[in-house]
Amino acid sequence: MAEAIAQAGGWIPFDEFMRMALYEPGLGYYANSRSKFGVMPEHGSDFVTAPELSPVFGELVAVQVQDAFAHTGTSEVWEFGAGTGALAEQLLSTLGTACTRYTIVDVSGSLRLRQQERLARFGDQVQWADSLPAQMQGVVVGNEVLDAMPVKLLLRQQGVWQERGVVVGSVSEDGEDIRFAWAERPTQLRPPVEPELPPEAEYLTEIHPQGEAFVATLADRITCGAVLLIDYGFGESEYYHPQRHMGTLVCHHLHQVDSDPLVLVGLKDITAHVNFTGIAVAAQDAGMDVLGYTSQAHFLINCGLGAKLDQLEVIARSKAAKLMMEHEMGEFFKAIMLSKGVASWEPAGFVQGDRMHRL
Ligand SMILES: C[S@@+](CC[C@H](N)C(=O)[O-])C[C@H]1O[C@@H](n2cnc3c(N)ncnc32)[C@H](O)[C@@H]1O
Repeated sequence: MAEAIAQAGGWIPFDEFMRMALYEPGLGYYANSRSKFGVMPEHGSDFVTAPELSPVFGELVAVQVQDAFAHTGTSEVWEFGAGTGALAEQLLSTLGTACTRYTIVDVSGSLRLRQQERLARFGDQVQWADSLPAQMQGVVVGNEVLDAMPVKLLLRQQGVWQERGVVVGSVSEDGEDIRFAWAERPTQLRPPVEPELPPEAEYLTEIHPQGEAFVATLADRITCGAVLLIDYGFGESEYYHPQRHMGTLVCHHLHQVDSDPLVLVGLKDITAHVNFTGIAVAAQDAGMDVLGYTSQAHFLINCGLGAKLDQLEVIARSKAAKLMMEHEMGEFFKAIMLSKGVASWEPAGFVQGDRMHRL
């Protein structure tokens, strides 16, 4: 990374630093072989995701996928950022032959190996793609993939907007210990909403050109289908609220959260919340319809979580209940549903508690 910074003239924008820290082949956080996903730090994991916490998550996402199959007349799933393959396993087990092909797209080679091992029993029903075909049909699913896409950092100081980037701060005599440091450059970039703060107040935030470009690419390639994205985030009025004046960028390491991505590089996850308004606008601008936006709790309850909970024994029930509890994943996480090339419908997971007006 120090070499890349030197080659770039001594400074790289933060999104490039984040890309290398997470995805540099063999070295980046998602490209190395550390465990990452799991419930307890003792097992070397850093965070838990919904499909890792409870299989009920995938069983209920399958309800939405089936509803989307029926309304789009398609039968293929495309999963982006499949992690350990947990959601794929849950979806494939629940959908059975209703899913004719399940394609995984993941930028991480080491995770692909874990997915292949875990999903071997599904044989040819599952395949992996390195890039997207010119045209695709089916239902796209992505859980916690948008938050893992590199973001740009913008800092307003004394009323002047700057882009935050990274420089080499110091190198030890033996060249072994390299410390990175923040450095800002003037920029024409702006967040979509100007913060309602006095000009002298310092304000740090993110913008998400890669996440929005990802959605635009999906819109470009999908001829007929739907997209379901679940992640933590807000609409833009909440995202760019003055109270959030330090931004949302955080790191996860051994189930601890911190705000310094410049240390333990490659060993910590780096993530930012999703601006769902930006995702919805990017989708619409690229020709998709936004069918629904709601909290994960509402989404899962609409898909039948209540009846599922009644069937579970106590430990499984308490894990599944975390998916909807307000102080766990229920409110913090949102689901957004997009479609392309089909007549709009009210998707199963969004019939109650829709929050499109909050986008
Ligand atoms: C936080 S993990 C979520 C994993 C899984 N979906 C889950 O819920 O457990 C993020 C995943 O997204 C993948 N990823 C990040 N950017 C991606 C992109 N542009 N295309 C496909 N996968 C991506 C990472 O390699 C990783 O598998």
